[in-house]
Amino acid sequence: MTNTELKKIKIFDTTLRDGEQSPGAAMTHEEKLRIAELLDEMGVDIIEAGFPIASPGDFKAVSEITKIVKRASVCGLARAGIKDIDRAGEALKTARQPRIHTFISTSPVHMKHKLNMGENAVLEAIGASVTRARNFTSDVQWSAEDATRTVPDFLCRCVEVAIHSGATTINIPDTVGYTTPQEYFEIVSMLRNRVPNADKVTFSTHCHNDLGLAVANSLAGVLAGAGQVECTINGIGERAGNAALEEIVMALKVRKDIMPFGTNINTTMLSKASKLVSNVTGFPVQYNKAIVGKNAFSHESGIHQDGMLKNVETYEIMRPEDVGVNSTSLMLGKLSGRHAFKDKLESMGYSLEDAAFEDAFRRFKDLADKKKHVFDEDIAALVDDGFMRGQEAIKVVSVRVETGTGIKPQATMTLSVHGEDKHVTTNGDGPVDAVFRAIHEAYPHTVVLQLFQINAVTEGTDAQATVNVRLEENGRTVTGKASDTDTLVAAAHAYVSALNKLLVKREKQAPEALTVAR
Ligand code: KIV
Ligand code: ZN
Repeated sequence: MTNTELKKIKIFDTTLRDGEQSPGAAMTHEEKLRIAELLDEMGVDIIEAGFPIASPGDFKAVSEITKIVKRASVCGLARAGIKDIDRAGEALKTARQPRIHTFISTSPVHMKHKLNMGENAVLEAIGASVTRARNFTSDVQWSAEDATRTVPDFLCRCVEVAIHSGATTINIPDTVGYTTPQEYFEIVSMLRNRVPNADKVTFSTHCHNDLGLAVANSLAGVLAGAGQVECTINGIGERAGNAALEEIVMALKVRKDIMPFGTNINTTMLSKASKLVSNVTGFPVQYNKAIVGKNAFSHESGIHQDGMLKNVETYEIMRPEDVGVNSTSLMLGKLSGRHAFKDKLESMGYSLEDAAFEDAFRRFKDLADKKKHVFDEDIAALVDDGFMRGQEAIKVVSVRVETGTGIKPQATMTLSVHGEDKHVTTNGDGPVDAVFRAIHEAYPHTVVLQLFQINAVTEGTDAQATVNVRLEENGRTVTGKASDTDTLVAAAHAYVSALNKLLVKREKQAPEALTVAR
């Protein structure tokens, strides 16, 4: 069967909502727009862009994303309360295809301890919230939070009320990552068989990865008849994360023989999406991560290499090119001109506007002056870094560090703070300490540095360094990431990037401060 003949599974991406909710994964407004643009271009059917009542930042992100997407539906999350739903409706008013996603907990433990509501009150809230959401859009998704720990008969009644009130998608979250493929298959099958009018709606999976089963459970849901999968790039999300989009999409593509379903995803963009999300969140992708890990297509053992040379199918079930990994890439160097650079960007899936292209080209030339061979990974780091260093409140203007044997390391920095340049010179116990102290002096703040990590982007002593920094303030964590051939410059940018994210996080209310308005 060709891809067009297969039953299409809708891909609902929640990187910007459930993904952004994970500890440390705050994103700036510009970063959210950039990710949404890429998801849209890649063929994601529905983009969950945020939780509009949670903060002015989330509201703005949802609203602005409705204006930039060309194909996807844009979705806003709302609890089962009037204020939440009206706020989501307001944020989505400029969307071509708006979707409101409203949810309430249905398991005994959540109803008793979280909501303090009985079954009848929950059923009433489902009816009222879905009806309210239908005033804004005909595309309403309802979710039973903690569905997999809900009493089956009650889950059926909840779904029945949601469908009766006008929900068009019914989502069955495995909120705590507790279910198994067989059990999840049975839950989805039961709902489809028992609930009146179940055939009029799309069932959706939403699986968390606490037991490492999120992708397997989602696929079991699809086999049971779910027509939508909720997932995130790189599987980011609360705790152990959500089902990874790239794994779901490639499993369906590679195993069409036993799972005859297609998606609208252009899989050659998966690698790029993974890199962008990793860059924005500062969460490195583990080397052995399926589909997008650095080692996903590397063969080290002699037996495997020998087999690969004879026939790639001996050890490869998909080609690197299928997910956008370029095996035969042309390296650039300092003699490469605009034309070669543009070709390279295009082959890597980047299309930059004139000003962004000129900026990237200038930084590429600087890099090529310092480094003999510029690899694809260098270019990706350079372009993605450029996207991130946009309109932040705090920017590194310049940094100089003196260090060596027998001298006390000293950092001299200029930091732009809300548009005003601050010049500082500070000593530290080591060069990194001096840089971080200088930032602290230019922009006083109280945070705990939880992580400082350096990785080389490519091989060789002239490689760019990628620095990851994680900061913590009153229980909130954020990460910053930056690359440069100078580790200390990268460290300064990474720290400042994390600080900017802290500013974004500060404006978000703690979820528990939001009450369910009935
Ligand atoms: O995991 C969950 O239950 C959720 C819901 C809000 C859908 O993210
Ligand atoms: Zn979730």
